[in-house]
Amino acid sequence: MRIKVGVIFGGETVEHEVSVISAIQAMNKIDEEKYEVIPIYITKDREWYTGDMLKDIDVYQDLNLIKKYSDNVILYYKDGSYVLQKKKGLFKSIVKEIDIAFPIVHGTNVEDGVLQGYLQTIGIPFVGPNVYGAVAGQDKAIMKDIWAEAGLPMTKYVWFYDVDYRKDSDSVIKKIEKLKYPVIVKPATTGSSVGIAVCEDQASLKEGIDDAIQYDSKIVVEEVVENLKEVNIAVMGNYENQKVSEIEEVLSASKFLTYADKYIGGGKGKLKGGFKTPIKGTASSKGMASANRKLPADLDDKTREEVERIATEAFKILGSSGNSRIDFLIDEKTNKVYINEINSIPGSLAFYLWDAKDINFTQVLDDMINIGIKDYKKRVSKTHSFETNILKGFAANGGVKGMKGMKGKLR
Ligand SMILES: Nc1ncnc2c1ncn2[C@@H]1O[C@H](COP(=O)(O)OP(=O)(O)O)[C@@H](O)[C@H]1O
Ligand SMILES: [Mg+2]
Repeated sequence: MRIKVGVIFGGETVEHEVSVISAIQAMNKIDEEKYEVIPIYITKDREWYTGDMLKDIDVYQDLNLIKKYSDNVILYYKDGSYVLQKKKGLFKSIVKEIDIAFPIVHGTNVEDGVLQGYLQTIGIPFVGPNVYGAVAGQDKAIMKDIWAEAGLPMTKYVWFYDVDYRKDSDSVIKKIEKLKYPVIVKPATTGSSVGIAVCEDQASLKEGIDDAIQYDSKIVVEEVVENLKEVNIAVMGNYENQKVSEIEEVLSASKFLTYADKYIGGGKGKLKGGFKTPIKGTASSKGMASANRKLPADLDDKTREEVERIATEAFKILGSSGNSRIDFLIDEKTNKVYINEINSIPGSLAFYLWDAKDINFTQVLDDMINIGIKDYKKRVSKTHSFETNILKGFAANGGVKGMKGMKGKLR
């Protein structure tokens, strides 16, 4: 019997469309002999749909078509199975059972732990990082603090809350100005270069912060890496085992800037400073397969090994799982390597980085599903022993005051 894989994509995120493309690419490459693919599309207004038509890119031109011809469902646990059940209709029939969920989603509300939390709550096995790994992979402040503690090389940074800036901007600015200008301001969780600005002095810093706090309550400011060379690498595995892909160099291309400009609203004054590629948009950050790149990147052996080692460590420390892309900034003059960020579920699942190592997309997907199954087995074994003991001990001691009424129910 084939394993039933529910590929979940879309969602309420600015990277909705990128996710649709990534998921359709993947659904077409999953080994159909081993797996039955069940598309699960989340619309921007959070409705879930399933149906074979959702494997076809053309249907996304017209949402009404999807609403009319595919099934509006919920995914939940019922009688020992994970089911997609129709929300409407007299009998609210079950459309499909799912063995494992495969989120191919990007950005806030889906890649950042929110969807993973739901999947973990209903208990379904799923591919990719669990809720903790996903959160740490989306929030740049959490990500950086974890990596800094582990001694991974990063540009100097600080982060702060909008409320503290509003209350006492002087002391926040003072804290930031321990860094060297130019600095780069980033909302902690948005991604896609939204709200990102390069600032060369205090005036533009204040402007950058005012802009960034429109998007997030947590803001990261870091020193800009000059003579910039950006390289990306994918890591596959979980906290037990990791392997690395080929390394790509993302080349500066005006189309990134245009995309960023679109999101940032004209890029007002944010691209100055003579940096080679000051800000790149989703196309770079999410690794669109068509982006301009040098693959493999032109690196000496020592730098290559450094990137591989840091990427592996960073993936493991964050508790990621599946197939993530980790992005680096290199100062070409000093040859210093800085880790920039992780993309827990990268665009196109970074398949081209594996392809360059002769691991084809079908194999990547197969590996990812197998890692998801392993993660599930680990999770289930841990959870069971833990919860049972606590509840037994609690009930045997008569519970706590005020909860006596619960006693019988806990046995
Ligand atoms: N410290 C830095 N120095 C120079 N350029 C940077 C720095 N941080 C980010 N950038 C540029 O901005 C882009 C977007 O920043 P990133 O941290 O990757 O955010 P996002 O999550 O929006 O992709 C990067 O791809 C890089 O081109
Ligand atoms: Mg990025």
